[in-house]
Amino acid sequence: MAPTGTASTALPAEAQALEKYFVLDKARLNEIVGGFRREFEDGLKNFGRDTAMIPSYCLNVPNGTEVGTFLALDLGGTNLRVCEVKLTGNHDFSVKQQKYKVSEALKHGDAKDLFDYIAESVDAFMTEVGTENGEDEAVHLGFTFSFPVEQTALDKGKLLTWTKGFACKNAIGHDVVKLLQDSLDAKHIKVKCSALVNDTVGTLLSRSYQSGPALIGAIFGTGTNGAYIDKTETIEKLGKEAIAESVKGGPDAGEYMVINTEWGAIDNGRHVLPVSPFDNKLDRESINPRKQAFEKMVSGMYLGEIVRNMLLYLIDFSVLFDGHSSEAMNTHYGLDTALVSEIEAAKSDDQVVNVLTKELGITEEFIKPADVQIVKWACRMVTMRAASLSACALAAVVLHTGHAQSKGGDETVDIGMDGSVAEFLPFFEERMRAALRLILGDEGEKRISMGLAKDGSGVGAALCALQAKKAEDANV
Ligand code: GLC
Repeated sequence: MAPTGTASTALPAEAQALEKYFVLDKARLNEIVGGFRREFEDGLKNFGRDTAMIPSYCLNVPNGTEVGTFLALDLGGTNLRVCEVKLTGNHDFSVKQQKYKVSEALKHGDAKDLFDYIAESVDAFMTEVGTENGEDEAVHLGFTFSFPVEQTALDKGKLLTWTKGFACKNAIGHDVVKLLQDSLDAKHIKVKCSALVNDTVGTLLSRSYQSGPALIGAIFGTGTNGAYIDKTETIEKLGKEAIAESVKGGPDAGEYMVINTEWGAIDNGRHVLPVSPFDNKLDRESINPRKQAFEKMVSGMYLGEIVRNMLLYLIDFSVLFDGHSSEAMNTHYGLDTALVSEIEAAKSDDQVVNVLTKELGITEEFIKPADVQIVKWACRMVTMRAASLSACALAAVVLHTGHAQSKGGDETVDIGMDGSVAEFLPFFEERMRAALRLILGDEGEKRISMGLAKDGSGVGAALCALQAKKAEDANV
């Protein structure tokens, strides 16, 4: 059973007073969901919104029979990944992959250097795994680029803003497919980037390929975001002509389109989110202040930092560790979210003490039994809020698309997930489900199935490259 629980009398008053920022009741959850839905609707009507509601030009989800071998690139998580994905049909696939480190210098340097490095990594990978190259034909590559991009075609899109610690110059406003293709061409690498895919879109496709049509693909990892499939006509900002154009021609054309919400940027204006002083501190010290408000409360890049800020506050009141800290505790991002997972998963208080002394450098003699409870409580507050807010985003999509009520059958609403928080944070799904019950009711929550979509970024990119290839073959 997931530890839930709210105010405990053993907690110092300074800690108890913080619970109002973290414990969300039914009314508060519904208020948040309402705010999210308003932003979704606004983003579908207008370009230039933070919650960008980006048309992906991906016009259907696969059914598991797709076959073919494609290259996939994945940039936007912890590493750059190059993969060769073999779709074998029958909901199955195999992947060969190689990870390449993206240095801080590349993340903050000129975009050309980053894209040259990516092209070189593709080249090195193809040599290493011996990717089969048709005589004249370039290998098709799906590019999972997990940043907000205003997409204008399956293989075209301009970067709107960087997120998750990237800040390369000369990239915002540029077509990222062109940046990549130019680097590939300059190095005479016979690869054609034919699809640009957000990781959430990839996750939705991959989940659908593996276990039947899904509604949402969601990432809870370094960042957070979600994509869903809906009638193209709901993307009002595209205008009637563009919508009509997108639903005609091509074997995969249809009346549906996958929409990348970019929900990480929801409520940058801070109207409904339960913003605490620790969130404000994190935000103003970040490289993208006033941006990605929701992401900064939910995703793996930030959860440890919120916990660190909370613990420091209690240290400063001398109600934790007798007022002592450590170098790690005083270092920006010095408490990694992986440690929050370790503390949450700890089977005994000794294990928590171990993390505090070995990983965070707190001197053991300053750790009283009550301190261990405070640390566990702080981790629980931050991660429970993250799970509840994640549930708000999922519920907002389910309600927005009219899937909250049963249409009379026993249909389920399926959600594919990927990312380190979804995979490694203890109790994440359980806690999301508890919040979903409050928002959608018991029946509504029961109808939702969710599970990890294996390798959304790789398989999804390959599935998109396949869609692109089919459209190209149809037009030849
Ligand atoms: C950030 C990016 C978004 C991506 C998400 C998860 O929010 O802006 O495009 O999907 O992280 O990786």
